Amino acid sequence: MNDGPHIVDRLWPNPAAEIPLDDAMASFAPTDLPSGRPLVAINMVTSVDGRAQLRGTAEGLGSRTDRRLMRLYRAAFDAVGSGSGTLRATGIWLRVGDDLAARRAAEGRPPNPVGVVIAGAERVPTEGSWYEGDEPRILIVGRDNALRDAPPGTELLRAPDERPEPAWVLDQLWSRGIRSFLLEGGPHINAAFLDQELIDEVYWTIGAHLLGTDALRMIAPVPGGSPYADEPRHGRLTSVLRHGDELFVRYRFDADS
Ligand SMILES: NC(=O)c1ccc[n+]([C@@H]2O[C@H](COP(=O)([O-])OP(=O)(O)OC[C@H]3O[C@@H](n4cnc5c(N)ncnc54)[C@H](OP(=O)(O)O)[C@@H]3O)[C@@H](O)[C@H]2O)c1
Repeated sequence: MNDGPHIVDRLWPNPAAEIPLDDAMASFAPTDLPSGRPLVAINMVTSVDGRAQLRGTAEGLGSRTDRRLMRLYRAAFDAVGSGSGTLRATGIWLRVGDDLAARRAAEGRPPNPVGVVIAGAERVPTEGSWYEGDEPRILIVGRDNALRDAPPGTELLRAPDERPEPAWVLDQLWSRGIRSFLLEGGPHINAAFLDQELIDEVYWTIGAHLLGTDALRMIAPVPGGSPYADEPRHGRLTSVLRHGDELFVRYRFDADS
């Protein structure tokens, strides 16, 4: 459902005032895909002071327009995923909605991206809205996870490690024809991808809030230290949209920067 019009100002590039978000995103598609693995983008919303949780979830950090944007991003990707912590915390729904599913189908693509959840050893919910759609779903679990049977309509993949290595996950997605993967958090699975230098793009919504809490940030501290601790990875600003007091920002992190 497009409960628009969701009017935005495009601040960068090609500034334009008061345009519908759907128009601003009309030509959006992941570009410069790497060879041999899917492109990885993370999409997160935070407060101005960088917190990715409010009262324990992301709920309330972004506006309705941000939720529309989230679907527009999803619609451009082959697969959309989350870590099991997010599934446990709030449940997830990774589809695009009827209007964007119809648009994808008209373009000869599957109506929804493949859904992906990445879990380690702990319990993974096997019921809830993520399991209720007819899109292909892949539930990836760590070697020692107690889950034995694939939930209905879901492929169960067991990694050779305690926690699935992001590079291994991407190999699995690549071998299934997936060329672009949108990771919607949470902060710990984002950190695992950052640790392996496997984040190509960041889509960041800055909600106009101050929290001052110790809630998780967009990317949790990398256990053992970040590869960028001494040499920050430089990003290229590729898009800025404004909706009221909220900003929608995109960065590209090229392999050679
Ligand atoms: N603001 C936003 O945009 C946004 C987006 C998403 C989520 N959130 C919020 O973030 C919170 C959940 O985040 P989270 O960080 O706790 O959970 P998460 O990142 O969604 O999932 C973490 C879990 O992923 C599993 N995992 C699998 N492979 C892993 C690996 N290689 N490295 C690390 N973990 C791996 C682990 O499961 P095991 O425990 O089984 O080992 C781990 O506990 C919720 O409050 C949610 O609402 C906010």
